[in-house]
Amino acid sequence: MRCPGTLILAAGSVGVVHAAASSNCTIEAIQGALLSNATVTNATVVLQGGSFGQGTADVAYPTNPSNLSSLCAVIVNATSSPESSFSFGLFLPDDWNSRFLAVGNGGFAGGINWLAMGDGPPYGFASMSTDTGHTGDFLDMSFALNSTERKADWGYRALHESIVMAKAIVGSYYGSAPAYSYYTGCSTGGRQAMKEVQMYPDEFDGVMAGCPSWWTTHQQTWQLEIGLINLPENTSHYIPPSLFPWISEQVIAQCDLFDGIEDGIIMDPKKCDLYYEAMLCKPNSTTTCLNPDQLQTLIDLHRPLAYGNNTWVYPNFGVGSEAQMPSSFGDVGTDAPSLYGTQYVQYMVVNDPTWDFNDFDYSIIQQADEENPGNASATQFDLSAFHARGGKLLQYHGYADGLIPTDASIYLHRQIVSTMFGQGVEDIDSWYRFFLVPGMQHCQGSVGDAPWFFGGSGQAASLIPATAAGTLDGFKDKEHDALLALMAWVEEGIAPEMLVATKFANDTIANGVMRQRPLCPFPKFAQYVGSGNVSEAESWACADRPGI
Ligand SMILES: *[C@@H]1O[C@H](CO)[C@@H](O)[C@H](O)[C@H]1NC(C)=O
Ligand SMILES: *[C@@H]1O[C@H](CO)[C@@H](O)[C@H](O)[C@H]1NC(C)=O
Ligand SMILES: *[C@@H]1O[C@H](CO)[C@@H](O)[C@H](O)[C@H]1NC(C)=O
Ligand SMILES: *[C@@H]1O[C@H](CO)[C@@H](O)[C@H](O)[C@H]1NC(C)=O
Ligand SMILES: *[C@@H]1O[C@H](CO)[C@@H](O)[C@H](O)[C@H]1NC(C)=O
Ligand SMILES: *[C@@H]1O[C@H](CO)[C@@H](O)[C@H](O)[C@H]1NC(C)=O
Ligand SMILES: *[C@@H]1O[C@H](CO)[C@@H](O)[C@H](O)[C@H]1NC(C)=O
Ligand SMILES: *[C@@H]1O[C@H](CO)[C@@H](O)[C@H](O)[C@H]1NC(C)=O
Ligand SMILES: *[C@@H]1O[C@H](CO)[C@@H](O)[C@H](O)[C@H]1NC(C)=O
Ligand SMILES: *[C@@H]1O[C@H](CO)[C@@H](O)[C@H](O)[C@H]1NC(C)=O
Ligand SMILES: *[C@@H]1O[C@H](CO)[C@@H](O)[C@H](O)[C@H]1NC(C)=O
Ligand SMILES: *[C@@H]1O[C@H](CO)[C@@H](O)[C@H](O)[C@H]1NC(C)=O
Repeated sequence: MRCPGTLILAAGSVGVVHAAASSNCTIEAIQGALLSNATVTNATVVLQGGSFGQGTADVAYPTNPSNLSSLCAVIVNATSSPESSFSFGLFLPDDWNSRFLAVGNGGFAGGINWLAMGDGPPYGFASMSTDTGHTGDFLDMSFALNSTERKADWGYRALHESIVMAKAIVGSYYGSAPAYSYYTGCSTGGRQAMKEVQMYPDEFDGVMAGCPSWWTTHQQTWQLEIGLINLPENTSHYIPPSLFPWISEQVIAQCDLFDGIEDGIIMDPKKCDLYYEAMLCKPNSTTTCLNPDQLQTLIDLHRPLAYGNNTWVYPNFGVGSEAQMPSSFGDVGTDAPSLYGTQYVQYMVVNDPTWDFNDFDYSIIQQADEENPGNASATQFDLSAFHARGGKLLQYHGYADGLIPTDASIYLHRQIVSTMFGQGVEDIDSWYRFFLVPGMQHCQGSVGDAPWFFGGSGQAASLIPATAAGTLDGFKDKEHDALLALMAWVEEGIAPEMLVATKFANDTIANGVMRQRPLCPFPKFAQYVGSGNVSEAESWACADRPGI
């Protein structure tokens, strides 16, 4: 059900600040907040309903957010070393909620994420995004070649430095420092969230880490390995992308009922013991099927990666993620794995663009781990400092993610919980919660018409119309909007007991709500209460796992 609740941020003790943007929105005025190693290159007054961004000059994020509230848009370019620099964008809304929001990036993209920044002003946030120190698309890692400095900017530094400077500008522009600071990001943005929490625990009061690609050295090499499992294209074991929608249907057909409700949604893929053989071609079959070699490929794509002596390396695709698996393979016809894997090794690890993916072996992963290029991997599981300063961390991951294995997120959660227990911190739930999203693919979208919209990073912009950035009317409450949930947690001490995810028919807002269902803090799970419409959130409750 839609709750028409009011925007909770208006109710807090922190008031709205009205700035007269036009008088102070100048390069000179903004520059006054910065040191000489940073230069304001743009300060533009954007009127109510206007748009701002760099258009196609921003290769990675060419879509400018539209229908912005009246604000001051700023671009800053800063020097991070003699051989590197980065830029960031900042929206300073006239009606400011006294809060700061930083948003993350995606893949290896270099560019200010204007569209994601556009999510901030509808809430009243001053919002910021960095270009991470280079310009280029999601799959282009050439910037990193032989450059420790540019790797560091991408790995964590440009974001951190941008945050420091953006906060200084906010303080000077409005005459007061932000009362609260938040971060939201998905994928690489989720990794950036974890780096912030680990390296700069004081920077944010609340952090949202969506589908984090947190273990860079293993995630990127995994993308190479899964490509190699399926390739070459001319072999009997190769599964072409065209077969995966069918495989996805077969998996859903087999696994849907394990939760007791026939609705196309696999609530818990761990409960499904796939009978792969059902997908085998029968003699002289004329319908879609897998040959025995392809069947083994599919099994291998679900099996965690290990080396010779059973050294566990990384999880693999979850059951239910088949529809999105091809996104993690290289382009058809290239006979090569994803550039996410190959370029990572070429430009980040061995610094040799001629490196051949056929030479991949375990030593490459070891080399990646030793160097940890750009210190990008977020493997510091001791979050004591973030916990001690009262920070709140909300992590989420789709069960049908075909780009970052869901189990990688589950593993991250386990490592943090174990490490914190080791530090004597047992009240994990009071500051760190993890929501698994049945049926959700990478960051947004779903299989089986599973509900997936809950105000996660980039989600509003993925709906139709895509211009509906930020909060949606009718969803501006802490149950339906994870950012508002995070704010309620930080500012009012109300921890999110559940979030409600929504599926709009064909992901089109105008078509109306098709389904809603609760998401529960792990290890709780959503369970049908036994009566009522299964498409409505009220018919479900968060249940404890038996025995705990
Ligand atoms: C412009 O900024 C200055 C310095 O922060 C401040 O004193 C002044 O009130 C601002 N002017 C307006 C119109 O907001
Ligand atoms: C600032 O950015 C806007 C939008 O991209 C552009 O039209 C304008 O020329 C820029 N101003 C400067 C000083 O670069
Ligand atoms: C633009 O934003 C305003 C709120 O600031 C909203 O009322 C209006 O519906 C939006 N227009 C479109 C076309 O999305
Ligand atoms: C930022 O400044 C550096 C050094 O002055 C320059 O090399 C770089 O091109 C600038 N970047 C942008 C995006 O303006
Ligand atoms: C700019 O200089 C200040 C003061 O030395 C330093 O703290 C900051 O890290 C520098 N920023 C960048 C981007 O190098
Ligand atoms: C990168 O460094 C390697 C080893 O130092 C060197 O052989 C190579 O020429 C360098 N490549 C570029 C493009 O600078
Ligand atoms: C199949 O492709 C591989 C890699 O491209 C190539 O080495 C091999 O010769 C091909 N085999 C056949 C039978 O075409
Ligand atoms: C499959 O087709 C072949 C060739 O048409 C035929 O010889 C064979 O009997 C068929 N097998 C079955 C099980 O129908
Ligand atoms: C297992 O194999 C890996 C990769 O070959 C190697 O690095 C590791 O040292 C081995 N571990 C043991 C216990 O032999
Ligand atoms: C690398 O990042 C980790 C956190 O992910 C941090 O603990 C460590 O100090 C960083 N190392 C360096 C050399 O910056
Ligand atoms: C959703 O899209 C499908 C396929 O394009 C179409 O058949 C169906 O009518 C659409 N549903 C709605 C509610 O628009
Ligand atoms: C169940 O709920 C959905 C979503 O609110 C609604 O579209 C559907 O009509 C309801 N079904 C029944 C039988 O009431």
